[in-house]
Parts: sequence; C-alpha cells; structure tokens
Amino acid sequence: MRSLLLLAAIGLAAAEDGLAAWLRYARVDNAKACLGKLPSSIVTLNATKGLPVYTAGQELAQGIQGFFGKKLDIDEHDERGKPRNNRPGKKSNAVTVGTVAAYKASNPREAAKVPELGDDGFYLSVSRGNALILGQNERGALYGAFRWLALLGQGNCSDFTLASTPDAPIRWVNQWDNLQDGGTHGSVERGYGGDSIFFWDGYVRPDLTRAGQYARLLASIGLNAVVVNNVNADPRTLTPELLDGLARIADEFRPYGVQLAMALNFASPQTLGGLDTFDPLEDKVQAWWDNITNEIYRRIPDMAGYLVKANSEGQPGPMTYNRTLADGANMFGRSLKPHGGIILFRAFVYNHQTLNQTLDWKADRARAAVDYFDGLDGKFLDNVVVQIKYGPIDFQVREPVSPLFAHLVKTPTAIELQITQEYLGQQAHLVYLAPMWKELLDFDLRVDGKESRTKDIISGKRFNRKLGGYAGVVNVGTNTTWLGSHLAMSNLYAYGRLAWDPEVTSEGILREWIALTFSDDRKVIDVITRMSMLSWPTYENYTGNLGVQTLTDILLGHYGPNPGSQDGNPWGQWTRADSDSIGMDRTVWNGTGFAGQYPPEIAAQYEHIETTPDNLLLWFHHVPYTHVLKSGKTVIQHFYDAHYAGAAVAQTFPTLWQSLRGRRGIDKERYEHVLYRLNYQAGHALVWRDSVNNFYFNKSSIPDELGRVGNHPYRIEAEAMTLDGYVPYDVSPFEAASGTKCIVTRTNSTRATASTVLRNVKTGVYDVAVNYYDVAHGNATWELYVGGHRVGKWKGDHEYILGKAPSPYIDGQTAARVTFRDVRVRKGDVLKIVGTPDGEEPAPVDYVSVLPKGIVD
Ligand code: GCU
Repeated sequence: MRSLLLLAAIGLAAAEDGLAAWLRYARVDNAKACLGKLPSSIVTLNATKGLPVYTAGQELAQGIQGFFGKKLDIDEHDERGKPRNNRPGKKSNAVTVGTVAAYKASNPREAAKVPELGDDGFYLSVSRGNALILGQNERGALYGAFRWLALLGQGNCSDFTLASTPDAPIRWVNQWDNLQDGGTHGSVERGYGGDSIFFWDGYVRPDLTRAGQYARLLASIGLNAVVVNNVNADPRTLTPELLDGLARIADEFRPYGVQLAMALNFASPQTLGGLDTFDPLEDKVQAWWDNITNEIYRRIPDMAGYLVKANSEGQPGPMTYNRTLADGANMFGRSLKPHGGIILFRAFVYNHQTLNQTLDWKADRARAAVDYFDGLDGKFLDNVVVQIKYGPIDFQVREPVSPLFAHLVKTPTAIELQITQEYLGQQAHLVYLAPMWKELLDFDLRVDGKESRTKDIISGKRFNRKLGGYAGVVNVGTNTTWLGSHLAMSNLYAYGRLAWDPEVTSEGILREWIALTFSDDRKVIDVITRMSMLSWPTYENYTGNLGVQTLTDILLGHYGPNPGSQDGNPWGQWTRADSDSIGMDRTVWNGTGFAGQYPPEIAAQYEHIETTPDNLLLWFHHVPYTHVLKSGKTVIQHFYDAHYAGAAVAQTFPTLWQSLRGRRGIDKERYEHVLYRLNYQAGHALVWRDSVNNFYFNKSSIPDELGRVGNHPYRIEAEAMTLDGYVPYDVSPFEAASGTKCIVTRTNSTRATASTVLRNVKTGVYDVAVNYYDVAHGNATWELYVGGHRVGKWKGDHEYILGKAPSPYIDGQTAARVTFRDVRVRKGDVLKIVGTPDGEEPAPVDYVSVLPKGIVD
C-alpha cells in the first residue's frame, strides 16, 4: 500500500511535465467547501468495460478524488437498473451516469423529464449532492461527466441543470502522421511536438499508451474522431499489417468514444493494388475500394470514415482521368455507405506548378477551390462532406473566410482549422488562436442576402443539412507537452470547446483552461489570459500586416521571416511587392476576380478599397506604399509601426510570466519551460520586426517617419568587431541580418573571437543582448566576456528544445537572441565573444546590443 501511495505521489509530480494537460485533477483550492455537496458514490447504468459509460464512471471517481480527496465507490447497475456488484447498504447521495435509454429502462417516470437531446448530447443535473449525467449515446454520457468535472475542477460545486448538444456532428482531429520518420517532414508533417504517437519505422507502434491518453484528452473536450495518418497519405497504410495496427489504435480510442478515421492515397488501387488504373469511374477501381473498405470495417466496425486530399500539391486524384472531384469523392462514399461511414473530401485543391506570376496578372491560387468545385454542388452522395480550409490560401495569420462555404448549399461542409501553428510560430511563439477562429466562424457571408455565418453553414443550420462540422489539424507528438509547448495546449482546448459550441467566448475558454491546467489562482488566470489574448494581434503585428499573409519563408520551414519567398514562384502566395506598390489585385474590375467569388454583398465590399477593412487591404488590392489607410497612416508606415508595436508587446511576455513565479500551480518545471519559450519569442519578434521592415524599406526606399528602421544606435555589428578566426558572411536573405552580414568561424573547427572596445558606453549597468544563429546539425557554444569577466555561455541547441522546423541555414528561421540582464559595464571595457563551432554550426553572430535599462534595440 505504501509503495502504491508513493507511486501515486510520483505520478502526480510527473504529471507536471504536461502529459495530463487540463486533466490533472489537482486538488482545488476550496476543496473543503465542496465536500458536503459531493455525492458519496457513483452509479453506472449498464456499463461495459472498454466503452464510454464505464470510462465515465472511472473518470468521475478519479476526478473527485483528485479535486477533493474524496474516494467514491462505483456501483454498476445492469440493463434493468439492478446493482451488479450487489454492495449492501444503499448510499444516500450518488452521481448516476449512463445513457438516456438505460435510465429509461430503470426509471421511466424520471426519464420522461429529460429534455430531448441531439447526437452526442448530454443532460447534467446536480442537486444537493446528487448528480445525474445522461448521454443521448454512450459518449454523450462521457462528455457530460467531463463537463461536470471541468466545473468541479474550477471549484464550482453548485447545483445546476444543463442540457447540451454539440453544434455540429463532425468534430474531428486530423493528425498528419507519417508511417516513417525521415523525408522532408519527419515523423509528423508540420508537427512540432515530437514523433508520431501512432507510427514508427513503417508500422503502428507496439505500445499505444499515448494513443489512449490522447483520446482521453479529446473526449474531454467533446471531439469524436481522429484521422490518424497524414493527408499526404502513404498507400501502404492499407496493407493488412497496417490495418491490424490501426485496429489496435481504434481499440485504444474506443473507451473514450473517439472513432478512428483514415487518410487515403487516391492512387492506391494502382500503386498498392496492382491495377492498371485508379480511374474512379472504372468498376474494378470501385470494387477495389469496396473490398478494402470491407476489410477495414471487418477489423474496425466503428471506423468513422475517410479523409482524402486529391489533385493537390502533387497528390493523385480524379482529375488525372478528367473526372470531377465529385466522381472521386462519391467513389469513396459508395464504399463507405453500407458501413455508415463518411468521407471528408478536401477542398484544398490547386496546382502548385503552373501558376505564372509574371505573365498573368489574373492568375490566383486563392480562386482554386471555388473554380474546381464549380458546378459540383448537388452532385455529391449524402455521406460526402467537403472539408474547407478556413481561408483560400493556407492557414495564414489573416485571411478572409473561404468563399467556397457560400457555394456549397446542398453539400455538407466542414471547416479545417489548424491547431499546429504551421505559419503561426510553430509553438515556439505564443499565439492563442481562438479569437481568430471566432472571427472566421462569426463571419456573415450573406448568401442570398440572408444572415449566413460560417458556423451556421458548417453546422448544417443555415442550409438545413444533417452533416458538417469541424476538422482540426492538431499534430501532437511524443513530447510530454503533446504540442511542444504547455501554453500551446490552450489552442487544442479551444478547438474542442468551439467545435461543441461556437458561442463560447475566447476568454472564457482560456480562463477555464488555465484553471484546469495551472490553478485557479486569480493572478495566474489574469496574467495568462492577458498574454494569450494579446498574442494573435501581436504576432500579426510583427509578421504580415494588412492581409499580406504571414511572410514566413514559404519555401523552407514556414517559420521565420522571408517576405521575398512569397513571390516569383508558382506556389501562388504572392504579394506582388515591387518598388512602389504591394498587394494582390483580386478585384473583378481589374484583378483576378476572386472578390467576385463571394455573394454579392460581400463581393461588393471587397471590390472597393474604401469598403475593404484595412486588415485585408493587401489581400484584395494592389496599392502604392503611400496609400493612406482608414487609420490615416500610409501602408508603409503602418508596416513599420505595427512591427515596432508587435515586437514591443512580445518583450512584455517574459516579464508578465515572471510575475507568476511561485504562484499556485506554477511549478518549477512548467515555469522554466514557458519562460524559455517566451524569452525566445521576445528575441525572435525583434528578428521579425527588423527583417520585414528592412525588406520593405529596401524595396520602397521610403524611410520610417520615426527614423527607427535601419538605425540602431545601441548595436555593434559583429562584422565591425576585431575578428580572430571569424570571417564576415553575407546572409541570405539579406534582411535576416542586421547590416546584411554576420560572422562565422573560418572553419568548422576554428575557435574564434570577436572583440570590441566599449568606448562610447558610459560606466553603468546594462542588458547585453547577442543576436546569433542557431542552425540544426551542430551545437556550437558562445561565451560572452565584458571587461575580462565571463557574463555567460550558451549553446546552439534549439533543435533539441524548440520543436520548430529545423533549418541548416543562417537565415530568419535560425536567427535568435540571448539577453544577459544587469551586466556591469565600464567605459573602455573590452567586449569579447568566443565562438566554438560544432558540426555544421559555425557559431554565427549577427550583432551585440548594449542596452540601457528599458531600451530594446
Ligand atoms: C500546407 C502544408 C503541407 C500540407 C498541406 C495540406 O501546404 O504546408 O505540409 O500537406 O498544407 O494541407 O495538404
């Protein structure tokens, strides 16, 4: 017993590595106040081990014990409502959990009072120590249990009654997991939290503990299916061995009511099946899919369905045979129909090879989805759902809602959101996304001149459809934090909460998530809420403004700044920036015509500069840098100002976080983890600010009215220092280095120094910042000396610490800053950096800033 208790204690401590996320079930502050209001036992109605009602009983026991230290017995009742384990002595207060149907069997009179629930809905009634949790189905009961636990975990043990049905039936998660590590995208494509929890070395992992834990997290926020493999699907997923493995994953999911779904490679009948074609209208191709689908359902009878990326970014599809996308989607629909499965067919269809920016002013990738799906509404089978990315391009920091939502009236649709922050800081930057998602979901597309909010279109309400909903690209990995960062988990939590109920507020979700993840200490909740609510506008400010897109390096990691990478290639994420103007002309009268893809009221608004909101100006219009915005600023000055403002806010995040040190729920492990990332973000926000500003200053030659851009009075450029073993290096793109150059060691084994005499610095206390580059494939070390004293030493090891895409290049992806606070400096001191290269990392240094208190440069 002692050792068991000890283990339990260790388990609790280890949970602060993030694995338990918001399901920590940590003791609540006013536990005593609730004790009298809690039930004394748990009654499960007709529970089967391995199914959600059983799980609900276990979770309730675990949660109530964790929150309040009260141990509850679980009494299992059979289908007629009789106790199975026949424990003598009836307890007075109980929480009863089961389906409405099971409750009816034992308690028909009371059951008649339960309001009508939709699919997956629950009824929750808490009154004087008794609680009734009924699901419309088994997982509905589990959702109800988790909802109550979320309230209890916030110290809310009051009486209430709630009936809740999810807004939409499809609340899926997409994982972009590869069967194998390696290749361009590693184990999880655009995953920043480690390797796949499902696959390794071409097979399903033998140990799927994490798969079960993941399903538990998802169920707790109402999510109901996971596509376990990458949309860029490997045909081998359909081999018998893999299918057996997938069945094991489904077994791990089932206790939580989470269904497994799969991504398919359209050409599988040929590449895997050996047919001479994958034409969707060929009978033998249909027969091949029917057969494999039967094989899958034989192993996984509750499989949710398929996800297909076709004719996009090199993936095969029906257009290879001049068939329509509907022909392709329906083929899967037919195979799935007898099994009750659905097919999510992606609208992310475009050709990344043929668009020509120079020759064709009207070419536009943003048009692709509507163009390709034109005329297909009404041609899909009723188990086909079109899955549409929120914006017409690709998960950018600001995009208008995809107009395709307004075109598919008879066809169910789902919105694709991205929890993994591909273009949005890759979990190394704090960017809380719920406010952005809510703007998109609340947007009124005005179809037929009537209110047509995105959320009501996808839920099925607006066009009276049964199917529809949400697909979130999550990409968790084996990292104990799941996403690679504790704070990034608020996005997963928000995704689930919004897919259930898009009316919940971004801030409300956040407060709940913080209370459960850290603690309900007022200050903890206020500070993390403040930082998080600021984070999306802040990120937008220091990255891409006015709808120009995020401006990450789109040819490499999609992470650091590289505005030039947007243009001059067929990927079609163009900004068309030249020496005097910028933006995509998407008007009907003179541009690509994309604006005209919206219903008339919205089209008219975007067609004209005057009625286009500033934050989408450059998405829809090509204007001079001197164009005056509604704010009264010119475009170029807005760029400069926004970048300074955004980077300045990012500097406040570490300080805000530090104010939480030692507060309840802020344990050392998570405190340090978060602080590290926020410090990194503060440094990288400056890299962003300077790169983007220098780039557009260079293009436009228009100076910053406030004289900041290109003027850095506190900096000492590394290339201007006295170098021994270091040589200057031209950075590409040029704007990723202060003064366009950095220094690197002459060879990869030369220990080198760069030094300078601080002649112009008054004796005093300063913050000394060093901007350097931390490239993958090496762990160089740097030492900083001032006046003969070593101020600090650091390593180029971000590749092990931050999950962001690794890059071997000296550029905006790898640029970083380290700051040493409160350094005593005397006039005339020698400042020296000693760089020791390692592997391919030549200890690069960009510049040093000697900063009086309160100055950031
Ligand atoms: C983005 C992403 C790719 C992904 C694609 C998709 O372009 O960078 O990695 O495959 O979206 O959604 O299919």
